[in-house]
Amino acid sequence: MIKDLFIKKTLAQLDEQADSKHNELRRHLGPVNLTLLGIGCVIGAGIFVLTGTAAALHAGPAIALSFIISAFGCLLAGLCYAEFASMIPVSGSAYTYGYATMGEFIAWIIGWDLILEYLFGSATVAVGWSGYVSSLLADVGLHLPSAICQSPFVFDAEGWHTTGAIINFPAVFIVALMTTLLVIGIKESAKFNNIIVMIKVIVILLFIGFGIAYIDTHNWTPFIPASTGPGEFGWSGILTGAGVVFFAYIGFDAVSTTSQEAINPKRDMPIGILASLIVCTILYIAVSLTLTGIVNYKDLNVPAPIALAIDTAGQGLAWLRPIIKIGAIAGLSSVVLVLLLGQSRVFFSMASDGLLWKSFAKVHPKFKTPYITTIVTGCFAAFFAGLFPIGLLGELVSIGTLLAFVIVCIGIIILRKTEPDAPRAFKTPWVPVIPILGALVCFVQMASLPKDTWYRLFGWMAIGFIIYFTYSRKHSKTRQYRQE
Ligand code: ALA
Repeated sequence: MIKDLFIKKTLAQLDEQADSKHNELRRHLGPVNLTLLGIGCVIGAGIFVLTGTAAALHAGPAIALSFIISAFGCLLAGLCYAEFASMIPVSGSAYTYGYATMGEFIAWIIGWDLILEYLFGSATVAVGWSGYVSSLLADVGLHLPSAICQSPFVFDAEGWHTTGAIINFPAVFIVALMTTLLVIGIKESAKFNNIIVMIKVIVILLFIGFGIAYIDTHNWTPFIPASTGPGEFGWSGILTGAGVVFFAYIGFDAVSTTSQEAINPKRDMPIGILASLIVCTILYIAVSLTLTGIVNYKDLNVPAPIALAIDTAGQGLAWLRPIIKIGAIAGLSSVVLVLLLGQSRVFFSMASDGLLWKSFAKVHPKFKTPYITTIVTGCFAAFFAGLFPIGLLGELVSIGTLLAFVIVCIGIIILRKTEPDAPRAFKTPWVPVIPILGALVCFVQMASLPKDTWYRLFGWMAIGFIIYFTYSRKHSKTRQYRQE
């Protein structure tokens, strides 16, 4: 019975699944599209919203170091993702990798956990999108009533309260719009993403390029402010800051959920994953240095830190203000898009394996997209985005993503032992040092998250176990295949 839980899919089975005879999805994505999907998913609420608070409360100007430390953890995990993705050309990312290395039960845990990253992630960013849209509309004199643009519930030290609002309508709207685009086609979705990425990267480059002239280097001294308590400035503040800005890197792994839509996944997946991570790291370091150079870090505890920097720079940069807001709105919409894309592909893979309802694996005859799972994903994301506050959702997203990273890192060590000779288009260097270090760095970041987030993770997993033991185990195709 225990052995049965860890039944694995072989690499040959996975190759067969990706084969054109069985793959109903449309292969459209090349290396450029994949890299842009990664960037589309990564640059969003993290840099446009969280950077300011992280600098003001935890790291000061050394928030740039927090970004480097967080990128280091992601790079270690990214190298492991790249090896898996170059071997296993099947959608489903960490879920599929878990199935090949640690067996069905662990794969289920990862698949269930990825819902926290992708589904809850898309809801979180949709709430951030709503905040930016309301503020842009207010700038042009259109004030949305708070009853329809705020979460009806908040959660703080005193527990749950109602706010009097009915629904966060803009958040529901953006989820519905992106879901519709995803149903229509992967090609159309990728095209939209490419345009949006172009806009947001240009906006960020404009901020860096024109902002440099307004940097007052006094704001960088001291670069590492003296510690005022655990997690407040000094090196412990830099580490806490790294945990906070980790959210800004989430999404590079979403590239690996689209393997069955990539033209040459074994070659291009590692390019997409690593190139998007590197580009975003460079941009993040430059933005955080510019930001803390223009505004004193003590003033940065605001929801729109880049807009504050522009105001601080004065008339010279006033023309950039609306452009930054539009860039952020566009930027956040592609994050919602790619996270929803990732979630629907994970559900699609789980359903193709029989672990979720068959209809989740249905592909639209004309659009060639897994439309039922996309719509179901959209409905759940809209529900959470419409009703719940951003902070609560965000912490769940981080813990879920970090757990997936830990398991992927461990998976690489296992796969090197169980399949030492399987062809690998990309090999993680210095195994087992890199994966062990990656798992450790991610675990330490998980440990630094609040206790309540851990309880919610356990609660979430408990729901997952009930579904696994009452439905998935009985319908698993791998199990049926072995018994025949
Ligand atoms: N990394 C994504 C963001 O910052 C989730 O919005």
